[in-house]
Amino acid sequence: MIKKQLKAEVEVYDGISELDENVQSLMHKALAIREKAYAPYSNFLVGAALLLDNGEVVTGSNQENASYPSGLCAERTAIYWAGANYPDNKILQIAISASSNKKKNETPIPPCGACRQAIAEYEQKQKQDIEIFFMGIAGKVVKVNALRDILPLAFENKYL
Ligand code: THU
Repeated sequence: MIKKQLKAEVEVYDGISELDENVQSLMHKALAIREKAYAPYSNFLVGAALLLDNGEVVTGSNQENASYPSGLCAERTAIYWAGANYPDNKILQIAISASSNKKKNETPIPPCGACRQAIAEYEQKQKQDIEIFFMGIAGKVVKVNALRDILPLAFENKYL
């Protein structure tokens, strides 16, 4: 038996203003689209903004359903739209803002496991890492340099 360590490094910023101007702008788009989320059941609103390599920004918010599992997270709403409409473009960055509508969440909220798996697919498809920035609706922002850093031991298409 050998033991292996899985390591990940994240960067924690005190607030949006510490980020590069372009990333600030992407995060503001995530904050804005979050307001349009359809989340009447959880009241937990999430916004995601993706920067593509052609300069386009694709945004998405979570879309809930009375049949709960039929809803979709903000990240996958945006990623699948980008994949459908810009199949040949790479996703360079994703900015995410998430907070309950009932209380102002200032804790950075990372993407859920299913969204990580979906983002991992695109990282593999495009053979390029995707930078991810996530926050609440105010306060600290966390940056990870690549999705694979927050999904170690990922299931990949090479196993199929
Ligand atoms: N949600 C997202 O949009 N992204 C995530 O990464 C986690 C959760 C949504 C799904 C659901 O509409 C609400 O947040 C509560 O789980």
